[in-house]
Amino acid sequence: MKAGGLINRMGFNNHGVYNLVENVKKSHFGGVLGINIGKNKDTPVEQGKDDYLTCMEKVYPYAGYIAVNISSPNTPGLRTLQFGEALDDLLLATKNKQTTLQAYHHKYVPVAVKIAPDMTEAELIQVADSLVRHNIDGVIATNTTTGRELVQGMDYCGKTGGLSGRPLQLRSTDVIRQLSAELQGKLPIIGVGGIDSLIAAREKMAAGASLIQIYSGFIFHGPRLVKDIVSDI
Ligand SMILES: Cc1cc2nc3c(=O)[nH]c(=O)nc-3n(C[C@H](O)[C@H](O)[C@H](O)COP(=O)(O)O)c2cc1C
Repeated sequence: MKAGGLINRMGFNNHGVYNLVENVKKSHFGGVLGINIGKNKDTPVEQGKDDYLTCMEKVYPYAGYIAVNISSPNTPGLRTLQFGEALDDLLLATKNKQTTLQAYHHKYVPVAVKIAPDMTEAELIQVADSLVRHNIDGVIATNTTTGRELVQGMDYCGKTGGLSGRPLQLRSTDVIRQLSAELQGKLPIIGVGGIDSLIAAREKMAAGASLIQIYSGFIFHGPRLVKDIVSDI
């Protein structure tokens, strides 16, 4: 696709949380390490919570923060965890687990929830309310989109998966703006989606993000992009 975007449909193709922990133990990375967790593809969504709690327990000692990913479009059923009772149930269990692990490890590891851009304003308001009620430490907005409005007629547009990069930029910024209006600073927003320039980074922050992440932009523009943005912000 020649639109500064890409479609990812890999799902969580990795060797699992035990392998991740072994890799992290070997790492000499000195920065803030966010570890992103999600349920296994073959775990029924009704039991998905158990996968999140297992992952939390394993990664907690090594993480700077934990990102609870309930928004990948490539794991069937995962996004249903963003709504209603399923969300409340997961957030309650997550918060309880965090409290137990904090006491055990004598350190507080913040938990951020990562959401999809494909939600209505009413749904976003409900998510924001739930995050505040459960005292979640942050929200990451957004994951990739299943929408294809801006890439109609382009190569690979019809492929399944999550679209990221430039075609996601506006939509994720809108989500951040709506969340920010709803949250009123009660928890920080980590903005992500199509950041491909300093201006795009500033737009995310102007919309209410206090931190930003870059994925596709790093692929298209390389480390220079990070340097340019960091030196400005
Ligand atoms: C190849 C690829 C793999 C990804 N894997 C994950 C993942 O495992 N967990 C997750 O929460 N988001 C994942 N994402 C989503 C990105 O973290 C990010 O939220 C999204 O791509 C939007 O940002 P961007 O436009 O800067 O890429 C992935 C994206 C891509 C392109």
